[in-house]
Amino acid sequence: MPIVEAKYIWMDGTFVQWNEAKVHVLTHGLHYGTGVFEGIRAYKTEDNLVIFRLEDHMKRLIRSAKLIQIPFDLSLKELCNATIELLRKNEIRESAYIRPIVFVGYGGIGLDYSGFPISTAISAFPYAKYFGKSALNVCTSTWRRIWDASLPPQAKACGNYLNSVLARMEARARGVDEAILLDHNGTVSEGSGENIFVVQDGEIATPPQSSSVLAGITRDSVIKIARDEGISIVERPVSRAELYTADEVFFSGTAAEITPIIQIDGRNIGQNTEGKVTAVLSRIYARAVTGVIEKYRGWLTEVYP
Ligand SMILES: Cc1ncc(COP(=O)(O)O)c(C=O)c1O
Repeated sequence: MPIVEAKYIWMDGTFVQWNEAKVHVLTHGLHYGTGVFEGIRAYKTEDNLVIFRLEDHMKRLIRSAKLIQIPFDLSLKELCNATIELLRKNEIRESAYIRPIVFVGYGGIGLDYSGFPISTAISAFPYAKYFGKSALNVCTSTWRRIWDASLPPQAKACGNYLNSVLARMEARARGVDEAILLDHNGTVSEGSGENIFVVQDGEIATPPQSSSVLAGITRDSVIKIARDEGISIVERPVSRAELYTADEVFFSGTAAEITPIIQIDGRNIGQNTEGKVTAVLSRIYARAVTGVIEKYRGWLTEVYP
């Protein structure tokens, strides 16, 4: 999806012109994937722009950096304020995507990056839909999800995303919209950039963190909304077979929001159309992120005074 460029990018405390936000070719993160990032959305409301779960995303960024041992000393407040300032400076009033990244800079060519400079950048740009479709055909990937014994899936780390890229490109080559990765045990993990849920007889299940999933913030929101609606939802291992026999399957993610999956590996899921539970959750989620539902307003940060 092409980017609609904004004017400025926030880099290490200053605003730089979009085309001037550059790094050295020997940047450690470019060679070895030593960086952590976030994907955050801002939504247009009737009279403002709101950022969805900004603090939770920035907390995850800080945790990811800790896990990869990237020393960085910006506080949660500084990260959140920089994001708000960036949206204001760019005068973004439409729904947008926000991409903070913390990465190891140029300091040498070795793997050991002790003492190398650490940079933080935040980009934000107008953004609408991630998937060009309202319901997806997907495949199970031949690539397995990374697991804790080699790379920590809990870190939203740049290097981890090679796993997601391989799966996503394979899906494309197979003519489908997205891939579902199984974990090292062969049970369901998640999409290349989304968590996954299956619905059977009105009960929802989603793989737990021990199935190598990223602790998605949308996933957490879906769990909360389902519980508030009195829909039974559990975190437990999900088998590949369950995908094929489920009444409904859907993805959740900041970019993907809540997107129904109607075909997996050429098999129709449920009625081959968005299911009822998915539709209910998707409708509530869309209203929650735009401030329509009072009890979820605590998830939102207003950009303009
Ligand atoms: C691998 C992976 N899993 C799950 C998610 C969903 O997480 P969130 O809802 O926090 O965007 C993402 C997106 O960030 C992701 O990249």
